[in-house]
Amino acid sequence: MEGDSKLYSKELDCFKAELSEKDFEAFSNFIYSEFGIKMPPVKRVMLQGRLLKRIRQLNMKTYSEYKDYLFSSEGQKEEIFNFLNVVTTNKTDFFREPVHFDFLKSSVLPEYSNKGINEPFKIWSAGCSSGEELYTISMTLNEYKAEHRSFSFSMLGTDISQNVLTKAAKGIYASSKVDIVPLELKKKYLLKSKDKENPTIKVRPELQSNLRLKYLNLMDSSYSNINETFDVVFCRNVLIYFDRKTQESVINKLSMHLKPGGYFFIGHSESLTGMDVPLEHIKPTIFRKK
Ligand SMILES: C[S@@+](CC[C@H](N)C(=O)[O-])C[C@H]1O[C@@H](n2cnc3c(N)ncnc32)[C@H](O)[C@@H]1O
Repeated sequence: MEGDSKLYSKELDCFKAELSEKDFEAFSNFIYSEFGIKMPPVKRVMLQGRLLKRIRQLNMKTYSEYKDYLFSSEGQKEEIFNFLNVVTTNKTDFFREPVHFDFLKSSVLPEYSNKGINEPFKIWSAGCSSGEELYTISMTLNEYKAEHRSFSFSMLGTDISQNVLTKAAKGIYASSKVDIVPLELKKKYLLKSKDKENPTIKVRPELQSNLRLKYLNLMDSSYSNINETFDVVFCRNVLIYFDRKTQESVINKLSMHLKPGGYFFIGHSESLTGMDVPLEHIKPTIFRKK
């Protein structure tokens, strides 16, 4: 009994633990300077909730204890990836903002084919999250390839969260996530699990065969581990977490990996208006390297 009550009070201690303003500020400054992600005071309760689970896993009692561990040299090596998994927002979907995939199909790909270039078409999803965006692109490109046999492509997905990169590499999703995928594409490219209680789908190998996934922090001063230029860069619903100065710098760095005339796609709530970047506006949220 005594043991039980000790356990109970330990649980209560956890529940009572609060992220103080001072500790929040330390986390917030770190998240902003290292990853570019804005974490204003209104997000204190959100961050507190997100960190709580991790703090419990580590059997720690306070946010301060966790902060000291994270900022220690050991924590910077061992904990930083778990911290990133917790602080990033990874919401994504198949066929999210579908006009972009229509534009790829109807304009970008035919234009590329007409040039008669004898190289794979290269596309990069920067901030790819768990892979739904990449596999939507892959279905679009595979469909095009089915009608244009000489067409080939390669895809790169990058993110700072290891959790989402692992999920993207597995390519397994709850069946409900693919409700939006047209039936014809589902039949061709997705495999259903036999598990009736927890139905999932797995993407077929052809959606993954031309895909590489890498860790990349868009805040890095240059993207030196990306040794190539692309025909298209998707950076959708990522810039929204950065302030304007950081957005401009990230777009300039991404543009260096875009071929002249290459296309750049952003999310529908993002804008490049007034920024000094080498991109011209084509349509809302679609740009082209000058
Ligand atoms: C909301 S998701 C967007 C996913 C996808 N592009 C889409 O539009 O559906 C944003 C992604 O950006 C990633 N991200 C945030 N800050 C980043 C940074 N500094 N470097 C690289 N990726 C970052 C997050 O980990 C997250 O997976």
